[in-house]
Amino acid sequence: MILSGASRLAGIMGWPVTHSLSPRLHGFWLERHGIDGAYVPLPVRPEAFEAALHALAELGFRGVNVTLPHKEQAARACDQVDATARRIGAVNLIEFRDGNAVGSNSDAFGFIENLRQNAPAWRAEGAPAAVLGAGGAARAVIVALLDAGVPELRLANRTPERAAALAETFGEHVRCVAWGERDAALEGCGLLVNTTTLGMRGQAPLEIGLEALPADAVVADIVYSPLETDLLARAEARGHVAVEGLGMLLHQARPAFEAWFGVRPEVDQDLRRFVLAGLGGA
Ligand SMILES: NC(=O)c1ccc[n+]([C@@H]2O[C@H](COP(=O)([O-])OP(=O)(O)OC[C@H]3O[C@@H](n4cnc5c(N)ncnc54)[C@H](OP(=O)(O)O)[C@@H]3O)[C@@H](O)[C@H]2O)c1
Repeated sequence: MILSGASRLAGIMGWPVTHSLSPRLHGFWLERHGIDGAYVPLPVRPEAFEAALHALAELGFRGVNVTLPHKEQAARACDQVDATARRIGAVNLIEFRDGNAVGSNSDAFGFIENLRQNAPAWRAEGAPAAVLGAGGAARAVIVALLDAGVPELRLANRTPERAAALAETFGEHVRCVAWGERDAALEGCGLLVNTTTLGMRGQAPLEIGLEALPADAVVADIVYSPLETDLLARAEARGHVAVEGLGMLLHQARPAFEAWFGVRPEVDQDLRRFVLAGLGGA
């Protein structure tokens, strides 16, 4: 796309940002919709974050995505933060409006949209959900599942204090389960979600016995490199619907693209293939 003097600009602030798939993802949609705009990588050191954010507003950027390690700092630096981002405690999407930085978080949206697209028969209200992990991504997944109407969320994390802190934040529907009891906690669940880093390329696989999981339960992994984790392969072999993490990444980008470029884009196989090529065939 050839830019003009009126091009709309957006980008992703991170440190480092070299491995981000977002420029490729937004670039695909810009081409598809013939939009006069650009989405660029913005490597920003943590100590320079606030100054860089203000400079981008001054430079006429429509907004930015924010990734590691800036998501919590972004929540403090924005002039306004919406309710979802406040509950998650992190901002991944900023719009500049009349000189103000307005922060939100589209990770919960990305998670639930991916789940609904790839496991359309799943009903939130139907049964408890088991969530493994209590890091930054777990917060977005918990918000998504509670907002969708999951009646009980069983949360297991290697470090129990972190799970207990999340249960305290998110209230009575979140019940902590000891990490060592994670196999038995799957009894009666309609959904299992891995939000730990286990199963990522270079990390140990997630060890969990799936025997107690009902046959119609859905298994989701938010790890997307590799695309098919050991957990998803084992779930599929048992006949569960298995939902990959890449779709969460693709869907979380939709509200951002719409906010800056004015078109609500779709997630389809062409986009998935194009972004996957940037993952080096994960
Ligand atoms: N698909 C997407 O769009 C998307 C979005 C965000 C994140 N992610 C992926 O989600 C994963 C987690 O990201 P995050 O930002 O939440 O990371 P994080 O804040 O660092 O949390 C890591 C989690 O993994 C657990 N963990 C790490 N090593 C473990 C081990 N050896 N045994 C048991 N548990 C272990 C941690 O447990 P402790 O608390 O005990 O340390 C913690 O719960 C990453 O793979 C990331 O790429 C995907």
